[in-house]
Amino acid sequence: MLTNKRILLIIGGGVAAFKSLDLIRRLRERGANVTVCMTSAASQFVTPLSAASLSGNQVYSDLFSLTDEAAMGHIQLSRAADLLVVAPATADLMSKMANGLANDLASTLLLATDKKVLVAPAMNVRMWTHRATTRNVAQLREDGVLFVGPDDGDMACGEYGPGRMAEPLQIVDAVEAVLFAGTAEQFLAGKRVVITSGPTHEPIDPVRYIANRSSGRQGHALATAAKDAGAEVVLISGPVNIPDLAGLKTIKVETAKQMQAAVEAALPADIFISAAAVADWRVDTQASQKVKKSGDGPPSLVLIENPDILAGIAGRKVQRPSLVVGFAAETEKVIEYGQAKLARKRCDMIVANDVSPGSGVMGGQENSVHLITASAIESLPKQSKAAVATAIIRRCNAMLEEKQS
Ligand code: C5P
Repeated sequence: MLTNKRILLIIGGGVAAFKSLDLIRRLRERGANVTVCMTSAASQFVTPLSAASLSGNQVYSDLFSLTDEAAMGHIQLSRAADLLVVAPATADLMSKMANGLANDLASTLLLATDKKVLVAPAMNVRMWTHRATTRNVAQLREDGVLFVGPDDGDMACGEYGPGRMAEPLQIVDAVEAVLFAGTAEQFLAGKRVVITSGPTHEPIDPVRYIANRSSGRQGHALATAAKDAGAEVVLISGPVNIPDLAGLKTIKVETAKQMQAAVEAALPADIFISAAAVADWRVDTQASQKVKKSGDGPPSLVLIENPDILAGIAGRKVQRPSLVVGFAAETEKVIEYGQAKLARKRCDMIVANDVSPGSGVMGGQENSVHLITASAIESLPKQSKAAVATAIIRRCNAMLEEKQS
């Protein structure tokens, strides 16, 4: 419930603005007090009168309105709120935010506020994927701005892809998650977390494949912990025997190359956790028919190296998540090898665990890990994979906050 919470809703000039009228209703249904600011472009899509009628409050749009300034100045307006929500957040508005522009009331409120800002982007797919927008989104994430969506889908312009504004109820959920962040442990509200889990299967022929014993339990537990902390989670999983996790977007893949493509498509993200046991090798040429026994002895399998997903994401120049976390499953010299992997893969943290046959970790319910960063090694006691996941997610949050401070 949002009883007595004051939301300042900034409506940008996009065709999704009509959904913001429904958003006002939904927020009020939960008890929120909504004040609307519209950009001048927004008033081409929806009228200030509709926004005023639905919110029950005066609508603000003019930076130089003497009457408004006399009643409530723009600084006060931006600070009186508990949360600022920008929906739809257009490419233009986000560009202004990322650069600190303040040439109209909306951008001035966003610059003057001392409150959290949640944005729901909405734009054409090419505008969303343009390098300029990508840069601005990365900057805003780094500045601590929180995001909900955009979703994939059909667009008003007739194209399909990411850029559709999140649905009003999704935005309301995000608002609740952000506002209760301090109280209900929703410390990752507004953050997007991409997690890989499970093994990969690398086909030899239509019926055989190379695999490993990863169960996906640790990766899936991380996804649950991140979701419980309020994050928007994308779980990319190889073949596992775990039921789908409720309320969580899971993308199922089979091979390392498919996993790599899915991870790249899931960016941008604040945190990437690579918990999957990705096969290092795949068969060079997959046989199109089942390989048959012949009198000439066994077939020879030529293996080639798979892409290193973790190193690829950690080494990205654009859209590198603020935090990149890898796993190191070792059977000996666990910490030493973990430290080497941290440097080699250029990630921010390595979770090193002992998977030697006697440890029971691979496929088991418990795990004992060492959290290795450039500056510290923290060894956690043996505990359930869920408890390990919670500890890792908390640590990620602490590192993210440190980076942003
Ligand atoms: O190099 P190694 O496979 O031991 O590194 C383990 C870490 O790297 C894990 O986080 C794993 O998910 C990731 N990895 C990857 N792509 C690969 C191999 C490993 O992302 N091809």
